[in-house]
Amino acid sequence: AEYDLVIQGGRVATTEGVSMMDVALQGGVIAALGRDLHGSRIIDATGKFVLPGGVDAHCHIEQLSGGGLMNADTFATATRSAAFGGTTTVISFAAQHRGDRLHEVVENYSRLAEAGAMTDYAFHLWISDPTSETLEQDLPRLIETGHRSIKIFMTYDRVRLLDEQILDVMMVAREHGALVCAHAENHGMIKWMADRLVSRGYVEPKFHGVSHPRVCEIEAFERLIRFSQLLDQPIMLFHVSTAEGASVIRRARGEGIKVFAETCPQYLFLTAHDLDRQGLEGAKWMCSPPPRTTSDQEALWRGLDLGDLQVVSSDHAPYRFDGSGKLAAGSNPDFKQIANGLPGLETRLPLLFDAMVSQGRSSLEKFVELTATAPARIYGLHPRKGAIAVGADADIAIWDPDREVTLADDGLHDNVGYNPFAGRKLKGWPETVLRRGETLVSDGRLHASPGSGRLQLRECSASMRPTGKLSPEFDPATNFGAQLL
Ligand code: URP
Ligand code: ZN
Ligand code: ZN
Ligand code: ZN
Repeated sequence: AEYDLVIQGGRVATTEGVSMMDVALQGGVIAALGRDLHGSRIIDATGKFVLPGGVDAHCHIEQLSGGGLMNADTFATATRSAAFGGTTTVISFAAQHRGDRLHEVVENYSRLAEAGAMTDYAFHLWISDPTSETLEQDLPRLIETGHRSIKIFMTYDRVRLLDEQILDVMMVAREHGALVCAHAENHGMIKWMADRLVSRGYVEPKFHGVSHPRVCEIEAFERLIRFSQLLDQPIMLFHVSTAEGASVIRRARGEGIKVFAETCPQYLFLTAHDLDRQGLEGAKWMCSPPPRTTSDQEALWRGLDLGDLQVVSSDHAPYRFDGSGKLAAGSNPDFKQIANGLPGLETRLPLLFDAMVSQGRSSLEKFVELTATAPARIYGLHPRKGAIAVGADADIAIWDPDREVTLADDGLHDNVGYNPFAGRKLKGWPETVLRRGETLVSDGRLHASPGSGRLQLRECSASMRPTGKLSPEFDPATNFGAQLL
């Protein structure tokens, strides 16, 4: 047989391991894996790694933030940047703000993505207004349609939910089959600390870190985990930043609670000292939660190794370092007035590849798992996405393991204008990136067109299903027969 395209002679990372073989593509999917496959087009991958395209399960694109500010990236610029970094699927947010009808929010973001996205994409349903219309009409319908993940916030005045609202959302997720993802930090502590710092004149960006005490994360993780336990509803804790946060998760998993967790490159590669710069410069490194310490970095790597944390996403939250973004509140803001977030869609994979594969901290298989296979499985994109396997979409990044790149502020393809990882020298870079068999990037050039990405509706994954172990209060055998499910 002659296939559309054969990628020849590369070292291919499949779910079984890494081996030298050809990958044959036909009609946008992977048609065969093996030796001596023939194609009408050939890509010579000798000396290269052939990996599944990255799945970035946490990014903010063309979205109004919790603070009410618009991201610097559109779907076109964000997914362009993603593609240059080897990522072929993103999950961004359909962000409901109070007063919005959720189904309209999803329709609006779908229209934006349909026009602009170059990678494939899905949405987390961001709930900030759990009215009866949201909970009884829009949310169930959207989940059943295939929007199988929900995002809730425990902090940020404009979007946070109260405990009882979180329970309402979790119960709908349980009934219809969706994962509940959370930005879990204690709201009151942050607000109180921030006010106390600012009123004493501690206003520089580095104090943003101080205003998010480590215990904020620990308390909120622990609280949400107990909600998960009460309802037997799986959760995903976003952007774990502390060693203690990772421990809380490990313990909960040991107790049989279905909790998943994510961390991000900023918590593996940056610390609180990155915010300590002259003037407002530190604002470029401001994100929530803030980067912590090198011993937290080590604890997070260990958590990933042990499987307590399963996913590394970017939390790409792009704002320019000017009046349209970080400095929107004027030229002399205190840290409370500065938008939180870093760009990371393009650098996520190269940073991790360099650390895990080039520097030998881990393995190529683990790199693929954390950045593609695990997020695809957990979020219901498997088996189409996240692995090189026969029948899967031909989303492939061909990596040159020897290429050395020094990151620079002007080297990325997003619309942010700076790179929080500038100056780092990385070994290994994705050279050719294919999405459903079409070339997105090759020879350092973009070949994709805006709007070529497709919405990925999802099935309820095994990760999203309850364990079946009812808490005593929900078990009619021990709650005097009350029917609560
Ligand atoms: O600092 C961050 N991460 N900004 C984006 C919004 C969020 O918290 O997820
Ligand atoms: Zn509608
Ligand atoms: Zn967050
Ligand atoms: Zn985020």
